[in-house]
Amino acid sequence: MGHSLRAAALLAFVVLSVLVSLLITSVKQFGSGSTRFSNATDEEELAALRRALDLQLRERRKEILPLLQPYDENKDGVLKEVHHFSELDQNSVLDFSLWNEVTLGSGKAHRDRMGCESLMDVRAVEVLGSGYTKLVVKANLAGGQPVALKLVNEQGIDMSKCVEDFKDPQGCRELVSYKLQKEMLLLQRLRHPNVIKLKGHCSGVQGGGGVEKGRVTVILEQGTPLQMIQLLQTPWEDRFRVCLDLVRLLHFLSQSPLGSVGLLDFQPRQFVTVSGQLKLTDLDDISAEETACRTDADCTLQFLHRNFTLPCSSRGVCEDLNEKRNIYNAYRFFFTYLLPHQAPPGLTHLVDHIMNTTGELKANINQTLEAFEQILLLYKSGLHLDNLHPSILRDYTVMRDMSTSGNVEYRCWPSYSQQGCLLSVHNAREAAYICNSHSQCNSFTLTGQKTWTGRFLASFRSSFGHLVPDGASEVYVKKSKVPQPPSS
Ligand SMILES: Nc1ncnc2c1ncn2[C@@H]1O[C@H](COP(=O)(O)OP(=O)(O)OP(=O)(O)O)[C@@H](O)[C@H]1O
Ligand SMILES: *[C@@H]1O[C@H](CO)[C@@H](O)[C@H](O)[C@H]1NC(C)=O
Ligand SMILES: *[C@@H]1O[C@H](CO)[C@@H](O)[C@H](O)[C@H]1NC(C)=O
Ligand SMILES: *[C@@H]1O[C@H](CO)[C@@H](O)[C@H](O)[C@H]1NC(C)=O
Ligand SMILES: *[C@@H]1O[C@H](CO)[C@@H](O)[C@H](O)[C@H]1NC(C)=O
Repeated sequence: MGHSLRAAALLAFVVLSVLVSLLITSVKQFGSGSTRFSNATDEEELAALRRALDLQLRERRKEILPLLQPYDENKDGVLKEVHHFSELDQNSVLDFSLWNEVTLGSGKAHRDRMGCESLMDVRAVEVLGSGYTKLVVKANLAGGQPVALKLVNEQGIDMSKCVEDFKDPQGCRELVSYKLQKEMLLLQRLRHPNVIKLKGHCSGVQGGGGVEKGRVTVILEQGTPLQMIQLLQTPWEDRFRVCLDLVRLLHFLSQSPLGSVGLLDFQPRQFVTVSGQLKLTDLDDISAEETACRTDADCTLQFLHRNFTLPCSSRGVCEDLNEKRNIYNAYRFFFTYLLPHQAPPGLTHLVDHIMNTTGELKANINQTLEAFEQILLLYKSGLHLDNLHPSILRDYTVMRDMSTSGNVEYRCWPSYSQQGCLLSVHNAREAAYICNSHSQCNSFTLTGQKTWTGRFLASFRSSFGHLVPDGASEVYVKKSKVPQPPSS
Protein backbone atom coordinates (compact mmCIF):
# COMPACT_ATOMS: atom_id res chain seq x y z
CA MET A 1 0.00 0.00 0.00
CA GLY A 2 2.65 2.50 1.18
CA HIS A 3 4.92 1.38 -1.66
CA SER A 4 2.42 2.02 -4.41
CA LEU A 5 1.56 5.39 -2.88
CA ARG A 6 5.18 6.41 -3.00
CA ALA A 7 5.41 5.21 -6.60
CA ALA A 8 2.36 7.26 -7.53
CA ALA A 9 3.85 10.34 -5.88
CA LEU A 10 7.10 9.83 -7.76
CA LEU A 11 5.26 9.42 -11.04
CA ALA A 12 3.31 12.56 -10.41
CA PHE A 13 6.53 14.40 -9.63
CA VAL A 14 8.15 13.20 -12.85
CA VAL A 15 5.13 14.09 -14.95
CA LEU A 16 5.02 17.52 -13.36
CA SER A 17 8.73 18.16 -13.97
CA VAL A 18 8.44 17.10 -17.60
CA LEU A 19 5.46 19.40 -18.04
CA VAL A 20 7.28 22.31 -16.44
CA SER A 21 10.40 21.81 -18.53
CA LEU A 22 8.29 21.52 -21.69
CA LEU A 23 6.59 24.72 -20.75
CA ILE A 24 9.90 26.50 -20.18
CA THR A 25 11.38 25.37 -23.48
CA SER A 26 8.24 26.29 -25.38
CA VAL A 27 8.31 29.72 -23.83
CA LYS A 28 11.98 30.04 -24.79
CA GLN A 29 11.25 28.88 -28.32
CA PHE A 30 8.33 31.20 -28.59
CA GLY A 31 10.52 34.06 -27.37
CA SER A 32 13.39 33.34 -29.74
CA GLY A 33 10.98 32.60 -32.55
CA SER A 34 9.25 35.84 -32.15
CA THR A 35 12.51 37.76 -32.28
CA ARG A 36 13.72 35.82 -35.28
CA PHE A 37 10.57 36.40 -37.31
CA SER A 38 9.58 39.65 -35.70
CA ASN A 39 9.40 41.94 -38.65
CA ALA A 40 7.56 39.46 -40.87
CA THR A 41 4.85 38.73 -38.31
CA ASP A 42 4.55 42.36 -37.27
CA GLU A 43 4.04 43.38 -40.82
CA GLU A 44 1.44 40.70 -41.36
CA GLU A 45 -0.29 41.65 -38.17
CA LEU A 46 -0.27 45.34 -39.05
CA ALA A 47 -1.60 44.58 -42.51
CA ALA A 48 -4.38 42.50 -40.99
CA LEU A 49 -5.23 45.32 -38.59
CA ARG A 50 -5.27 47.78 -41.43
CA ARG A 51 -7.59 45.51 -43.41
CA ALA A 52 -9.93 45.21 -40.43
CA LEU A 53 -9.95 48.97 -39.97
CA ASP A 54 -10.57 49.50 -43.68
CA LEU A 55 -13.50 47.16 -43.44
CA GLN A 56 -14.95 49.22 -40.60
CA LEU A 57 -14.35 52.44 -42.49
CA ARG A 58 -16.23 51.00 -45.44
CA GLU A 59 -19.10 49.91 -43.20
CA ARG A 60 -19.39 53.40 -41.75
CA ARG A 61 -19.39 54.96 -45.19
CA LYS A 62 -22.05 52.55 -46.31
CA GLU A 63 -24.19 53.58 -43.36
CA ILE A 64 -23.95 57.18 -44.41
CA LEU A 65 -24.68 56.76 -48.10
CA PRO A 66 -28.48 56.56 -47.76
CA LEU A 67 -28.43 59.88 -45.93
CA LEU A 68 -26.87 61.69 -48.86
CA GLN A 69 -30.05 62.03 -50.88
CA PRO A 70 -31.15 65.51 -49.78
CA TYR A 71 -28.13 67.03 -51.43
CA ASP A 72 -29.62 65.93 -54.68
CA GLU A 73 -33.12 67.29 -54.38
CA ASN A 74 -32.39 70.34 -56.48
CA LYS A 75 -29.34 69.00 -58.32
CA ASP A 76 -30.64 66.16 -60.38
CA GLY A 77 -27.21 65.38 -61.79
CA VAL A 78 -25.95 64.38 -58.37
CA LEU A 79 -29.08 62.42 -57.61
CA LYS A 80 -28.50 60.18 -60.61
CA GLU A 81 -24.89 59.74 -59.65
CA VAL A 82 -25.71 58.62 -56.13
CA HIS A 83 -28.19 56.01 -57.33
CA HIS A 84 -25.69 54.95 -59.91
CA PHE A 85 -22.99 54.52 -57.26
CA SER A 86 -25.10 52.35 -55.03
CA GLU A 87 -25.61 49.84 -57.81
CA LEU A 88 -21.90 49.50 -58.49
CA ASP A 89 -19.50 47.12 -56.88
CA GLN A 90 -19.00 48.22 -53.30
CA ASN A 91 -15.29 48.77 -53.48
CA SER A 92 -15.59 51.24 -56.29
CA VAL A 93 -18.77 52.78 -54.85
CA LEU A 94 -16.93 53.56 -51.72
CA ASP A 95 -13.94 54.88 -53.47
CA PHE A 96 -12.53 57.39 -51.11
CA SER A 97 -12.13 60.61 -52.96
CA LEU A 98 -15.37 60.21 -54.83
CA TRP A 99 -17.26 59.57 -51.67
CA ASN A 100 -15.71 62.50 -49.90
CA GLU A 101 -16.62 64.72 -52.77
CA VAL A 102 -20.23 63.71 -52.43
CA THR A 103 -20.43 64.10 -48.67
CA LEU A 104 -18.22 67.04 -48.10
CA GLY A 105 -18.06 68.97 -51.35
CA SER A 106 -19.50 72.42 -50.88
CA GLY A 107 -22.33 72.00 -53.34
CA LYS A 108 -25.12 74.51 -53.62
CA ALA A 109 -27.46 72.04 -51.99
CA HIS A 110 -25.77 72.59 -48.62
CA ARG A 111 -28.28 74.28 -46.43
CA ASP A 112 -25.87 75.04 -43.66
CA ARG A 113 -23.99 78.16 -44.55
CA MET A 114 -20.98 78.47 -42.30
CA GLY A 115 -17.77 76.88 -43.45
CA CYS A 116 -14.13 76.77 -42.42
CA GLU A 117 -13.76 80.50 -42.99
CA SER A 118 -16.14 81.29 -40.13
CA LEU A 119 -13.80 79.42 -37.77
CA MET A 120 -10.80 81.54 -38.75
CA ASP A 121 -10.86 83.82 -35.76
CA VAL A 122 -12.78 81.72 -33.31
CA ARG A 123 -12.38 81.88 -29.56
CA ALA A 124 -13.10 78.67 -27.68
CA VAL A 125 -14.36 79.68 -24.26
CA GLU A 126 -14.95 76.46 -22.37
CA VAL A 127 -15.94 72.81 -22.70
CA LEU A 128 -19.70 72.36 -22.75
CA GLY A 129 -19.68 68.61 -22.61
CA SER A 130 -18.07 65.43 -23.80
CA GLY A 131 -19.02 61.82 -24.30
CA TYR A 132 -17.75 58.54 -25.72
CA THR A 133 -17.39 60.02 -29.17
CA LYS A 134 -17.54 63.78 -29.21
CA LEU A 135 -16.23 66.87 -27.51
CA VAL A 136 -18.35 70.02 -27.48
CA VAL A 137 -16.86 73.44 -26.82
CA LYS A 138 -18.46 76.82 -26.34
CA ALA A 139 -17.09 79.37 -28.78
CA ASN A 140 -17.61 82.88 -30.02
CA LEU A 141 -17.25 83.43 -33.75
CA ALA A 142 -15.39 86.46 -35.03
CA GLY A 143 -18.60 88.53 -35.09
CA GLY A 144 -19.28 87.63 -31.46
CA GLN A 145 -21.92 85.07 -32.32
CA PRO A 146 -22.03 82.30 -29.69
CA VAL A 147 -21.94 78.75 -31.08
CA ALA A 148 -21.15 75.23 -29.96
CA LEU A 149 -18.42 73.35 -31.85
CA LYS A 150 -18.57 69.56 -31.99
CA LEU A 151 -15.34 67.66 -32.61
CA VAL A 152 -14.01 64.14 -32.32
CA ASN A 153 -13.19 63.54 -28.65
CA GLU A 154 -9.53 62.51 -28.82
CA GLN A 155 -9.71 61.39 -25.17
CA GLY A 156 -13.03 59.61 -25.62
CA ILE A 157 -13.68 55.90 -25.30
CA ASP A 158 -14.44 55.50 -29.02
CA MET A 159 -11.07 56.89 -29.99
CA SER A 160 -8.98 55.12 -27.35
CA LYS A 161 -10.64 51.77 -27.95
CA CYS A 162 -10.05 52.07 -31.68
CA VAL A 163 -6.39 52.99 -31.25
CA GLU A 164 -5.96 50.08 -28.88
CA ASP A 165 -7.51 47.72 -31.41
CA PHE A 166 -5.96 49.05 -34.61
CA LYS A 167 -2.87 51.02 -33.54
CA ASP A 168 -3.61 53.69 -36.11
CA PRO A 169 -4.57 57.08 -34.65
CA GLN A 170 -5.06 58.67 -38.04
CA GLY A 171 -7.32 55.89 -39.33
CA CYS A 172 -9.22 55.88 -36.05
CA ARG A 173 -9.80 59.61 -36.13
CA GLU A 174 -11.30 59.10 -39.55
CA LEU A 175 -13.44 56.22 -38.33
CA VAL A 176 -14.75 58.16 -35.36
CA SER A 177 -15.30 61.26 -37.44
CA TYR A 178 -17.80 59.34 -39.54
CA LYS A 179 -20.10 59.37 -36.54
CA LEU A 180 -19.83 63.14 -36.53
CA GLN A 181 -20.47 63.31 -40.26
CA LYS A 182 -23.43 60.99 -39.97
CA GLU A 183 -24.82 63.19 -37.23
CA MET A 184 -24.33 66.25 -39.40
CA LEU A 185 -26.24 64.69 -42.28
CA LEU A 186 -29.01 63.68 -39.89
CA LEU A 187 -29.19 67.22 -38.54
CA GLN A 188 -29.63 68.44 -42.09
CA ARG A 189 -32.47 66.04 -42.78
CA LEU A 190 -34.22 66.19 -39.44
CA ARG A 191 -34.71 69.91 -39.07
CA HIS A 192 -37.24 70.69 -36.35
CA PRO A 193 -37.60 73.28 -33.55
CA ASN A 194 -36.69 70.55 -31.06
CA VAL A 195 -33.55 69.41 -32.87
CA ILE A 196 -30.38 71.43 -32.40
CA LYS A 197 -29.79 73.77 -35.33
CA LEU A 198 -26.88 73.03 -37.64
CA LYS A 199 -25.14 76.24 -38.59
CA GLY A 200 -22.36 74.81 -40.69
CA HIS A 201 -19.27 72.69 -40.66
CA CYS A 202 -15.64 72.57 -41.60
CA SER A 203 -14.05 69.34 -42.68
CA GLY A 204 -10.49 68.44 -43.57
CA VAL A 205 -11.22 67.73 -47.20
CA GLN A 206 -13.19 70.89 -47.74
CA GLY A 207 -10.71 72.95 -45.80
CA GLY A 208 -7.87 71.64 -47.91
CA GLY A 209 -4.46 73.04 -47.12
CA GLY A 210 -2.98 71.77 -43.89
CA VAL A 211 -6.20 70.32 -42.49
CA GLU A 212 -6.00 66.59 -41.91
CA LYS A 213 -8.45 64.11 -43.26
CA GLY A 214 -10.87 63.11 -40.54
CA ARG A 215 -10.80 66.49 -38.83
CA VAL A 216 -14.39 67.61 -38.80
CA THR A 217 -15.83 70.52 -36.86
CA VAL A 218 -19.58 70.85 -36.74
CA ILE A 219 -20.96 74.30 -35.92
CA LEU A 220 -24.16 74.21 -33.90
CA GLU A 221 -26.43 76.60 -32.11
CA GLN A 222 -25.31 76.88 -28.50
CA GLY A 223 -27.40 75.30 -25.78
CA THR A 224 -27.20 74.46 -22.11
CA PRO A 225 -26.75 70.80 -21.20
CA LEU A 226 -29.85 69.43 -19.56
CA GLN A 227 -29.38 69.18 -15.80
CA MET A 228 -31.99 66.80 -14.49
CA ILE A 229 -31.27 67.66 -10.85
CA GLN A 230 -31.76 71.37 -11.51
CA LEU A 231 -34.82 70.72 -13.62
CA LEU A 232 -36.42 68.81 -10.76
CA GLN A 233 -36.31 72.02 -8.71
CA THR A 234 -37.99 74.23 -11.29
CA PRO A 235 -41.70 75.09 -11.37
CA TRP A 236 -44.07 72.54 -12.92
CA GLU A 237 -44.68 74.86 -15.88
CA ASP A 238 -41.03 74.56 -16.97
CA ARG A 239 -40.90 70.82 -16.39
CA PHE A 240 -44.09 70.40 -18.38
CA ARG A 241 -42.48 72.40 -21.19
CA VAL A 242 -39.56 69.97 -21.41
CA CYS A 243 -41.96 67.02 -21.61
CA LEU A 244 -44.16 68.73 -24.19
CA ASP A 245 -41.13 69.59 -26.32
CA LEU A 246 -40.00 65.99 -26.11
CA VAL A 247 -43.40 64.74 -27.25
CA ARG A 248 -43.43 67.21 -30.13
CA LEU A 249 -40.01 65.93 -31.14
CA LEU A 250 -41.11 62.29 -30.95
CA HIS A 251 -44.20 63.10 -33.00
CA PHE A 252 -41.98 64.58 -35.68
CA LEU A 253 -39.56 61.64 -35.53
CA SER A 254 -42.39 59.14 -35.95
CA GLN A 255 -43.00 60.45 -39.45
CA SER A 256 -39.75 62.13 -40.35
CA PRO A 257 -38.27 62.39 -43.85
CA LEU A 258 -36.29 59.28 -42.94
CA GLY A 259 -39.32 57.32 -41.82
CA SER A 260 -40.09 56.44 -38.21
CA VAL A 261 -36.93 57.20 -36.27
CA GLY A 262 -36.05 55.58 -32.96
CA LEU A 263 -33.57 57.06 -30.51
CA LEU A 264 -31.47 54.11 -29.42
CA ASP A 265 -29.47 55.90 -26.75
CA PHE A 266 -32.26 57.82 -25.03
CA GLN A 267 -30.82 59.73 -22.09
CA PRO A 268 -31.23 63.25 -20.75
CA ARG A 269 -27.59 63.93 -21.69
CA GLN A 270 -28.51 63.72 -25.39
CA PHE A 271 -30.53 66.91 -24.97
CA VAL A 272 -29.81 70.58 -24.33
CA THR A 273 -32.07 73.58 -23.82
CA VAL A 274 -31.95 76.80 -25.80
CA SER A 275 -33.87 79.58 -23.97
CA GLY A 276 -35.86 76.95 -22.12
CA GLN A 277 -36.69 74.96 -25.25
CA LEU A 278 -35.62 71.32 -25.37
CA LYS A 279 -33.43 70.25 -28.29
CA LEU A 280 -31.96 66.92 -29.27
CA THR A 281 -28.23 67.24 -29.90
CA ASP A 282 -26.85 63.70 -30.07
CA LEU A 283 -28.09 61.96 -33.22
CA ASP A 284 -25.31 59.52 -33.91
CA ASP A 285 -27.24 56.60 -32.44
CA ILE A 286 -30.63 56.56 -34.07
CA SER A 287 -32.40 54.01 -36.19
CA ALA A 288 -34.80 54.50 -39.05
CA GLU A 289 -34.92 50.77 -39.72
CA GLU A 290 -37.98 48.63 -39.39
CA THR A 291 -37.64 45.34 -37.57
CA ALA A 292 -38.56 42.30 -39.63
CA CYS A 293 -40.71 39.68 -37.90
CA ARG A 294 -42.66 36.50 -38.44
CA THR A 295 -44.70 36.43 -35.24
CA ASP A 296 -45.54 38.90 -32.48
CA ALA A 297 -42.92 37.20 -30.35
CA ASP A 298 -40.27 38.68 -32.65
CA CYS A 299 -41.46 42.17 -31.66
CA THR A 300 -40.56 42.50 -28.01
CA LEU A 301 -39.37 45.68 -26.39
CA GLN A 302 -37.30 44.93 -23.32
CA PHE A 303 -36.71 47.41 -20.55
CA LEU A 304 -35.39 47.04 -17.06
CA HIS A 305 -38.77 46.85 -15.35
CA ARG A 306 -41.13 46.17 -18.21
CA ASN A 307 -41.34 44.07 -21.36
CA PHE A 308 -43.82 44.70 -24.16
CA THR A 309 -44.80 42.61 -27.15
CA LEU A 310 -45.95 44.55 -30.19
CA PRO A 311 -47.91 43.19 -33.13
CA CYS A 312 -46.10 41.84 -36.18
CA SER A 313 -47.86 43.42 -39.14
CA SER A 314 -49.00 41.62 -42.28
CA ARG A 315 -46.06 43.27 -44.06
CA GLY A 316 -43.77 41.31 -41.76
CA VAL A 317 -42.43 44.25 -39.74
CA CYS A 318 -42.94 45.14 -36.10
CA GLU A 319 -45.60 47.79 -36.03
CA ASP A 320 -44.52 51.16 -34.60
CA LEU A 321 -41.57 49.66 -32.78
CA ASN A 322 -39.41 52.82 -32.96
CA GLU A 323 -42.32 55.05 -31.96
CA LYS A 324 -43.26 52.86 -29.00
CA ARG A 325 -39.68 52.53 -27.81
CA ASN A 326 -39.36 56.31 -27.86
CA ILE A 327 -42.58 56.78 -25.91
CA TYR A 328 -41.61 54.36 -23.17
CA ASN A 329 -38.17 55.92 -22.88
CA ALA A 330 -39.76 59.36 -22.63
CA TYR A 331 -41.96 57.97 -19.86
CA ARG A 332 -39.16 56.38 -17.89
CA PHE A 333 -36.44 59.04 -18.28
CA PHE A 334 -38.55 62.21 -18.33
CA PHE A 335 -42.24 61.97 -17.45
CA THR A 336 -41.86 59.96 -14.24
CA TYR A 337 -39.46 62.56 -12.85
CA LEU A 338 -40.84 65.75 -14.28
CA LEU A 339 -44.57 65.54 -14.84
CA PRO A 340 -46.68 64.43 -11.87
CA HIS A 341 -44.91 66.31 -9.10
CA GLN A 342 -46.81 69.53 -8.20
CA ALA A 343 -49.03 69.43 -11.26
CA PRO A 344 -51.81 72.05 -10.97
CA PRO A 345 -54.75 70.52 -9.06
CA GLY A 346 -57.20 70.98 -11.94
CA LEU A 347 -54.90 69.09 -14.31
CA THR A 348 -53.80 66.13 -12.24
CA HIS A 349 -56.35 63.73 -13.74
CA LEU A 350 -55.06 64.52 -17.24
CA VAL A 351 -51.46 64.16 -16.12
CA ASP A 352 -52.27 60.82 -14.47
CA HIS A 353 -53.90 59.67 -17.67
CA ILE A 354 -50.76 60.51 -19.67
CA MET A 355 -48.59 58.74 -17.13
CA ASN A 356 -50.70 55.64 -17.45
CA THR A 357 -51.07 55.55 -21.24
CA THR A 358 -47.36 56.19 -21.86
CA GLY A 359 -46.19 53.90 -19.06
CA GLU A 360 -48.37 51.10 -20.43
CA LEU A 361 -47.79 51.98 -24.12
CA LYS A 362 -51.53 52.23 -24.59
CA ALA A 363 -51.43 55.40 -26.70
CA ASN A 364 -49.52 56.17 -29.89
CA ILE A 365 -47.53 59.36 -30.28
CA ASN A 366 -50.40 61.23 -31.97
CA GLN A 367 -52.71 60.57 -29.06
CA THR A 368 -49.96 61.42 -26.60
CA LEU A 369 -49.29 64.73 -28.33
CA GLU A 370 -53.01 65.51 -28.34
CA ALA A 371 -53.20 64.88 -24.60
CA PHE A 372 -50.23 67.19 -23.99
CA GLU A 373 -51.59 69.94 -26.21
CA GLN A 374 -54.92 69.71 -24.39
CA ILE A 375 -53.20 70.23 -21.06
CA LEU A 376 -51.34 73.21 -22.49
CA LEU A 377 -54.57 74.71 -23.80
CA LEU A 378 -56.36 74.30 -20.47
CA TYR A 379 -53.41 75.64 -18.56
CA LYS A 380 -53.07 78.70 -20.80
CA SER A 381 -56.77 79.47 -20.78
CA GLY A 382 -57.09 79.07 -17.03
CA LEU A 383 -60.09 76.79 -17.53
CA HIS A 384 -58.72 74.43 -14.92
CA LEU A 385 -59.33 77.19 -12.36
CA ASP A 386 -63.09 77.36 -12.93
CA ASN A 387 -63.78 76.43 -9.34
CA LEU A 388 -62.10 79.56 -7.97
CA HIS A 389 -64.96 81.89 -7.16
CA PRO A 390 -64.48 85.63 -7.91
CA SER A 391 -65.41 86.36 -4.29
CA ILE A 392 -61.95 85.14 -3.32
CA LEU A 393 -60.73 88.66 -4.20
CA ARG A 394 -63.17 90.34 -1.80
CA ASP A 395 -60.60 90.16 0.99
CA TYR A 396 -58.06 92.16 -1.04
CA THR A 397 -57.66 95.83 -1.90
CA VAL A 398 -56.25 96.39 -5.36
CA MET A 399 -53.93 99.25 -6.29
CA ARG A 400 -53.50 99.46 -10.02
CA ASP A 401 -50.43 100.83 -11.81
CA MET A 402 -48.44 100.34 -8.66
CA SER A 403 -45.63 98.21 -7.46
CA THR A 404 -43.93 98.04 -4.08
CA SER A 405 -40.57 98.72 -2.49
CA GLY A 406 -39.00 98.10 0.90
CA ASN A 407 -40.36 94.58 0.70
CA VAL A 408 -40.24 91.90 3.33
CA GLU A 409 -39.93 88.75 1.29
CA TYR A 410 -40.49 85.17 2.21
CA ARG A 411 -39.37 82.20 0.25
CA CYS A 412 -41.53 79.58 -1.31
CA TRP A 413 -40.80 76.57 -3.42
CA PRO A 414 -40.43 76.22 -6.36
CA SER A 415 -39.99 79.93 -6.95
CA TYR A 416 -38.80 81.68 -10.11
CA SER A 417 -36.60 83.80 -7.86
CA GLN A 418 -34.08 82.65 -5.25
CA GLN A 419 -34.76 85.57 -2.90
CA GLY A 420 -38.51 85.67 -2.68
CA CYS A 421 -41.69 83.92 -3.67
CA LEU A 422 -42.26 84.46 -7.38
CA LEU A 423 -44.85 82.19 -9.00
CA SER A 424 -46.80 82.10 -12.21
CA VAL A 425 -50.56 82.70 -12.09
CA HIS A 426 -53.37 82.93 -14.59
CA ASN A 427 -55.02 85.92 -12.93
CA ALA A 428 -55.49 87.76 -9.64
CA ARG A 429 -57.97 85.12 -8.45
CA GLU A 430 -55.40 82.34 -8.69
CA ALA A 431 -52.85 84.59 -6.98
CA ALA A 432 -55.32 85.28 -4.15
CA TYR A 433 -55.91 81.55 -3.79
CA ILE A 434 -52.15 80.99 -3.47
CA CYS A 435 -51.70 83.91 -1.06
CA ASN A 436 -54.49 82.53 1.14
CA SER A 437 -52.70 79.21 1.30
CA HIS A 438 -49.38 80.74 2.46
CA SER A 439 -49.51 81.74 6.12
CA GLN A 440 -46.83 84.47 5.64
CA CYS A 441 -48.58 86.07 2.66
CA ASN A 442 -50.20 89.46 3.12
CA SER A 443 -49.90 90.95 -0.35
CA PHE A 444 -49.03 90.08 -3.87
CA THR A 445 -48.03 91.98 -6.99
CA LEU A 446 -49.03 90.95 -10.47
CA THR A 447 -46.03 91.95 -12.56
CA GLY A 448 -46.08 92.63 -16.27
CA GLN A 449 -43.69 89.74 -16.88
CA LYS A 450 -44.99 86.54 -18.41
CA THR A 451 -43.81 82.95 -18.55
CA TRP A 452 -43.52 80.89 -21.76
CA THR A 453 -47.21 79.97 -21.58
CA GLY A 454 -48.25 83.61 -21.20
CA ARG A 455 -49.11 83.36 -17.51
CA PHE A 456 -48.22 86.29 -15.25
CA LEU A 457 -45.42 86.24 -12.74
CA ALA A 458 -46.74 87.19 -9.32
CA SER A 459 -44.62 88.13 -6.36
CA PHE A 460 -45.92 87.16 -2.91
CA ARG A 461 -44.87 89.06 0.25
CA SER A 462 -45.44 89.29 3.92
CA SER A 463 -45.23 93.10 3.87
CA PHE A 464 -43.73 96.10 2.11
CA GLY A 465 -42.56 99.62 2.88
CA HIS A 466 -44.46 101.69 0.35
CA LEU A 467 -46.07 101.82 -3.04
CA VAL A 468 -44.32 103.16 -6.11
CA PRO A 469 -45.92 104.00 -9.46
CA ASP A 470 -45.49 101.28 -12.09
CA GLY A 471 -47.78 101.17 -15.11
CA ALA A 472 -47.13 97.50 -15.71
CA SER A 473 -48.21 96.02 -12.41
CA GLU A 474 -50.93 95.81 -9.76
CA VAL A 475 -50.62 95.37 -6.03
CA TYR A 476 -53.17 93.38 -3.98
CA VAL A 477 -53.12 93.75 -0.24
CA LYS A 478 -55.16 91.81 2.31
CA LYS A 479 -57.74 94.25 3.67
CA SER A 480 -56.72 93.60 7.24
CA LYS A 481 -53.16 94.62 6.32
CA VAL A 482 -53.57 97.73 4.17
CA PRO A 483 -50.68 100.02 5.18
CA GLN A 484 -51.68 103.32 6.67
CA PRO A 485 -50.65 106.36 4.64
CA PRO A 486 -47.43 107.87 5.99
CA SER A 487 -48.36 110.18 8.84
CA SER A 488 -45.77 112.90 8.20
N1 LIG B 1 -25.19 72.49 -28.96
C1 LIG B 1 -24.79 72.21 -27.72
N2 LIG B 1 -24.77 73.17 -26.79
C2 LIG B 1 -24.36 72.89 -25.52
N3 LIG B 1 -23.96 71.69 -25.11
C3 LIG B 1 -23.94 70.68 -25.98
C4 LIG B 1 -24.36 70.88 -27.33
N4 LIG B 1 -24.25 69.70 -27.97
C5 LIG B 1 -23.80 68.81 -27.06
N5 LIG B 1 -23.60 69.39 -25.87
C6 LIG B 1 -23.10 68.72 -24.65
O1 LIG B 1 -22.00 67.90 -25.00
C7 LIG B 1 -22.20 66.56 -24.56
C8 LIG B 1 -21.57 65.59 -25.55
O2 LIG B 1 -22.18 65.69 -26.81
P1 LIG B 1 -22.74 64.39 -27.55
O3 LIG B 1 -23.83 63.78 -26.70
O4 LIG B 1 -23.11 64.72 -28.93
O5 LIG B 1 -21.42 63.47 -27.52
P2 LIG B 1 -21.31 61.89 -27.43
O6 LIG B 1 -19.88 61.56 -27.48
O7 LIG B 1 -22.22 61.26 -28.45
O8 LIG B 1 -21.91 61.61 -25.99
P3 LIG B 1 -22.47 60.23 -25.40
O9 LIG B 1 -21.29 59.38 -25.11
O10 LIG B 1 -23.18 60.71 -24.17
O11 LIG B 1 -23.41 59.66 -26.41
C9 LIG B 1 -23.72 66.42 -24.42
O12 LIG B 1 -24.05 65.51 -23.42
C10 LIG B 1 -24.18 67.82 -24.07
O13 LIG B 1 -24.18 68.00 -22.67
C1 LIG C 1 13.03 42.57 -41.82
O1 LIG C 1 14.18 41.82 -41.52
C2 LIG C 1 15.07 41.70 -42.59
C3 LIG C 1 16.25 40.82 -42.17
O2 LIG C 1 15.88 39.96 -41.15
C4 LIG C 1 15.60 43.07 -43.02
O3 LIG C 1 16.44 42.95 -44.14
C5 LIG C 1 14.42 43.95 -43.35
O4 LIG C 1 14.87 45.25 -43.61
C6 LIG C 1 13.44 43.98 -42.19
N1 LIG C 1 12.28 44.78 -42.55
C7 LIG C 1 11.78 45.73 -41.79
C8 LIG C 1 10.58 46.46 -42.33
O5 LIG C 1 12.24 46.00 -40.70
C1 LIG D 1 -38.23 40.63 -19.83
O1 LIG D 1 -37.85 39.58 -20.72
C2 LIG D 1 -36.60 38.99 -20.41
C3 LIG D 1 -36.26 38.00 -21.50
O2 LIG D 1 -37.36 37.25 -21.87
C4 LIG D 1 -36.67 38.34 -19.02
O3 LIG D 1 -35.44 37.76 -18.70
C5 LIG D 1 -37.04 39.41 -18.00
O4 LIG D 1 -37.19 38.83 -16.74
C6 LIG D 1 -38.30 40.14 -18.39
N1 LIG D 1 -38.45 41.27 -17.48
C7 LIG D 1 -39.61 41.63 -16.94
C8 LIG D 1 -39.60 42.78 -16.02
O5 LIG D 1 -40.65 41.03 -17.18
C1 LIG E 1 -52.24 52.24 -15.14
O1 LIG E 1 -53.50 52.04 -14.51
C2 LIG E 1 -53.74 50.70 -14.11
C3 LIG E 1 -55.16 50.61 -13.61
O2 LIG E 1 -55.47 51.63 -12.71
C4 LIG E 1 -52.70 50.30 -13.06
O3 LIG E 1 -52.90 48.97 -12.68
C5 LIG E 1 -51.32 50.45 -13.65
O4 LIG E 1 -50.33 50.15 -12.70
C6 LIG E 1 -51.10 51.85 -14.19
N1 LIG E 1 -49.83 51.89 -14.88
C7 LIG E 1 -48.95 52.90 -14.79
C8 LIG E 1 -47.70 52.76 -15.55
O5 LIG E 1 -49.17 53.89 -14.12
C1 LIG F 1 -50.67 60.93 -36.82
O1 LIG F 1 -50.83 62.26 -37.25
C2 LIG F 1 -50.31 62.53 -38.52
C3 LIG F 1 -50.53 64.01 -38.81
O2 LIG F 1 -50.02 64.79 -37.79
C4 LIG F 1 -50.99 61.66 -39.58
O3 LIG F 1 -50.40 61.89 -40.83
C5 LIG F 1 -50.83 60.20 -39.18
O4 LIG F 1 -51.53 59.38 -40.09
C6 LIG F 1 -51.35 59.97 -37.78
N1 LIG F 1 -51.08 58.61 -37.39
C7 LIG F 1 -51.96 57.85 -36.77
C8 LIG F 1 -51.53 56.46 -36.44
O5 LIG F 1 -53.07 58.24 -36.49
